Parts: sequence; structure tokens; C-alpha cells
Amino acid sequence: MRIGPVEIGPGALLAPMEAVTDLPFRTICEEHGAALTFTEFLSAEALTRGSERVVRRMWPSLGGRRFVVQVVGREPEVLARASEMAAEAGACVVDINMGCPARKVTAGTCGAALMREPALAAVIVSAVRAALPASIPVTVKQRIGWSDSSINAPEFALRMVEAGAAMITVHGRTREQGFSGQVHLAPIAAVRAALPKQIPVVGNGDVKTVDDYHRMKRETGCDAVMIGRAARGNPWLFRAIRAIETGALVPASPTIVEQRAVWRRHADLVMEYTSDKMRLHELRKTLAWYSRGLYGGADLRGRVFRESQPEAVIDLGEGFFAILQARERARADTGEQPVADVAARCLARHLRRRGELGDKPWVG
Ligand SMILES: Cc1cc2nc3c(=O)[nH]c(=O)nc-3n(C[C@H](O)[C@H](O)[C@H](O)COP(=O)(O)O)c2cc1C
Repeated sequence: MRIGPVEIGPGALLAPMEAVTDLPFRTICEEHGAALTFTEFLSAEALTRGSERVVRRMWPSLGGRRFVVQVVGREPEVLARASEMAAEAGACVVDINMGCPARKVTAGTCGAALMREPALAAVIVSAVRAALPASIPVTVKQRIGWSDSSINAPEFALRMVEAGAAMITVHGRTREQGFSGQVHLAPIAAVRAALPKQIPVVGNGDVKTVDDYHRMKRETGCDAVMIGRAARGNPWLFRAIRAIETGALVPASPTIVEQRAVWRRHADLVMEYTSDKMRLHELRKTLAWYSRGLYGGADLRGRVFRESQPEAVIDLGEGFFAILQARERARADTGEQPVADVAARCLARHLRRRGELGDKPWVG
């Protein structure tokens, strides 16, 4: 797939997520086959004011891998200056957020609120386009509309493309839906149909499994799929999708040994790159993601949030996975099927009913 002059390899894209897609998280997803990762949305106003806290979130991907900086704002010239900063930081693409439903953003009349002001949104896209070198495309991430009664995704997307956008990502919900209710795939298909062929359309929303990925592709005709929440603690979803797109054999579900190694790599990246102030919080969050749906995970999470030292959280994680590994070894010795444990099955069934296990289909 090409975004303007930028060639993107096979695989799903990692969605921008505030307080989630930091450097450690992006690195893990890239190492598992994400074709491209995005920073969380960064306020153009804060960037141009020089807020250190926000500027450091433009952290370039490790190993020289390409990455996207997403900016949010309302003032075209401020967004243009922020985009220049993103380019200086090494972004290969600058994405403009026109989909965030949060009141703190829409009250400032940016994010999804721009879908109600297509004329201003178009001025923003052309200002950012004009500020960047031709080698760096501008893209837009939008929703399907503000509310059920104002679905304007295809017209809006076309207008953004006419203003200079080289790719459109569509989250298949309205702003009023927030993150609830059904994802609507028909408006994403309508965006694909409305745009010139050379402009890629990315389908986004509720892709938690390989089946969801196939459905998104089939029902929308989108050129690529973007994954957000399901990537938390499950980077293997990127590995599976990349295998599908390259015609390779889809790898087996990760073993406990593998899950432990990837959690530990993630935790080590947090130790290395996260500020002293945030380290404990990030380690707790990371372990909670990787233990979801695993035997003893709920109990672990209760204990993790009582720990007050980063090293203690890592020790807890190591102990947790060591027990799971020992259980797996014992089962292998007795020839018992993996995850035959009644309690684990009950928990898995319960989580699946609550829709919390869609992204870890191998559990239970
Ligand atoms: C915690 C969280 C933070 C998010 N932050 C952003 C953001 O910074 N920029 C953005 O465009 N979308 C943001 N989103 C929306 C996601 O990028 C994505 O569109 C949405 O979660 C639907 O995809 P999913 O079902 O695969 O998660 C966020 C979503 C979540 C859950």
C-alpha cells in the first residue's frame, strides 16, 4: 500500500491511543508485524508552545522504523507549525485527528467536532499539506459522522482528499456513539467507493480477531485495517494478520513461554523509556493487559495494584508466568490437554460472555 510517496509493507496498522501508544507499546507492535504505528494525538497548541511533556511523545520508533505523528487542533497555522515539528522529529506521515469524541477535545471544537465544519477541516488539511515537504503525506482519521442523523463520512473524506489528504482512516462509529454500540461498516465501504483508487482507506473499529479482520476487509473493501484496543496485551494479532497478507502460514497461538517473554520485553522497554513518575503505573497496566484471560490473572491484578515499586511489579509478573509455565509442563508430562483446568475454562467462558476475550481466542 502507498500513502502518497510512502510505501507501507503488509500488515495491520496500530491505532493512535492516548496514554497507550507510547514508545514501548509501539515497539512491541512493530516487532510483531504492525505495518505502521501512530503516536497518540498530540495537541498542536501544546507542541508549538513547547510543552516538554507533549514534545517528548513524538518519540521516534526504535531501529529507524517509520512512524506517524498524530496532531489535534483547530487553528490551521498552529497545526501547520506542529506538523513541521513532527516532520523534524522524523515522522514519515502526519495524521490529523478528526475523530476524537472526548468532550475535552470536542468542547475545544477539534477532533470529531471538525466533521461538522468540513470547510474549516479542509483549510486545516491544506495548511498542513503546504507546510510539509512533498515526501511527507498528510492523512486524516475521522468517524462516520457526528450522529446517526448526520452521517457524512464519504462527502467529508472526499473533501479532505481534495484538500490534500493522502489516506483516510474511518472509525465506524459516530461521535455520539463514543466507543459503544455497533461498528457500522457500510459507511466505511461508502468512503472507499467515494474516493479515488490511489487514496488508501483504512477500516477501523472492533477488530479483535482474525475473523473480524476478514470481515472488515470483505464488507468495506478497505485497503488496510487499523487495530486499537485489541492490541493491548495481544501483539500476536499483528503477526497473524501479516502472515495472512503475505500468504504465510498463520503462526500458532503464543505459548506461555512466548507470552512471558513478550510481556518481559514490554516491561523492560517501560523501565528504559518511561519517566520515573509514570513507570510504576505503566508497569502495572502492562502486566494487567498480558495477564487478561490467563489462569490466576484476576488475582494477580489485585496484587499488582497494591505494589508500590516497579521492581516488585516485575517480580510479581515473573512469578505469575513461572507458575503458568510449570502448570503447562506438568500437563505435558501427564499428556493432559492444555487449559483443561475447570476453573480456567469457567473464567474464559465468563470473560467471553462479557466480550472481554475476543482478542485472546486461544484461551479456554
Ligand atoms: C484509550 C484510547 C485512546 C484513544 N486515543 C486516540 C487518539 O489519541 N487518537 C485517535 O485518533 N483515536 C484515539 N482512540 C480511538 C482509536 O484510535 C480507535 O479509533 C478506536 O479505539 C476504535 O478502534 P478499536 O476498536 O480497534 O479499538 C483512542 C481509543 C482508546 C480506547
